[in-house]
Amino acid sequence: MSLKDHILTEKLPNHLAIIMDGNGRWAKQKGMLRVIGHENGTKSVREVVEASAEIGIKHLTLYAFSTENWKRPKIEVQTLMKLLVKSLKKEIKTLQDNNIRLMAIGNLMDLPKKAHQELMEVIDKTKNNTHMTLTLALSYGSREEIIKVIKELTDKVKNNIISIENIDESIINNHLYTQNLPDVDLLIRTSGEQRISNFLLWQIAYAELYFTDILWPDFKKKDLYDALINYQNRERRFGKTSEQLS
Ligand code: IPE
Ligand code: IPE
Ligand code: MG
Repeated sequence: MSLKDHILTEKLPNHLAIIMDGNGRWAKQKGMLRVIGHENGTKSVREVVEASAEIGIKHLTLYAFSTENWKRPKIEVQTLMKLLVKSLKKEIKTLQDNNIRLMAIGNLMDLPKKAHQELMEVIDKTKNNTHMTLTLALSYGSREEIIKVIKELTDKVKNNIISIENIDESIINNHLYTQNLPDVDLLIRTSGEQRISNFLLWQIAYAELYFTDILWPDFKKKDLYDALINYQNRERRFGKTSEQLS
């Protein structure tokens, strides 16, 4: 029996999110430039996207570029944006072949024009795909997202579109970038860092967290299966007692 056969399809996370970290260190360990790490990271993206679709995960969200990542050296930021355009052009076929819908969250207007255009094109071309949604977090920061929600809601209150009493979890959910996505069930972070780095703070309120030392360019199908099996062996109680669940 292979590792994959140990995964129970009825217990898959509905929404899997991944903080893809460690490209720079991967390259450094090999005496190579950080950009080579990012290039190899895109191979892991393809592998994980394909594996997730194959297993039957409905929603996969990948942290590709944070609001804080703009502070990196200009040359690295430029390279990452070029790599994004290149990957979108190259992977549209993978998305279509696997019936995957591409979406994006974040302050997308901050992306360079070319990257923004290419992204919108792929989002549009794949909009009718139904097997899985792949959401790229680009120029994404959870605090920025929450500020956006507060601004939109206060504006609606001010203009009598909603009343303060109406504000509840579902209204907040509907104003987040992730409005069409369910809560995150499993959050994976690679590279050994055990932090959230401003990713989906609201949406991971009850997510299971999984940290692995594997650097993102080394993260392959087998590592995803390991994470899923680990997840499936946990008891998600959502505040209840263990006895209440059985
Ligand atoms: C993740 O790898 C990719 C991005 C954040 C864009 P890093 O570039 O953060 O790699 P490390 O953490 O420096 O090794
Ligand atoms: C988080 O990784 C952002 C992405 C993976 C896109 P970072 O490498 O930017 O996070 P920190 O700075 O180590 O927290
Ligand atoms: Mg990093």
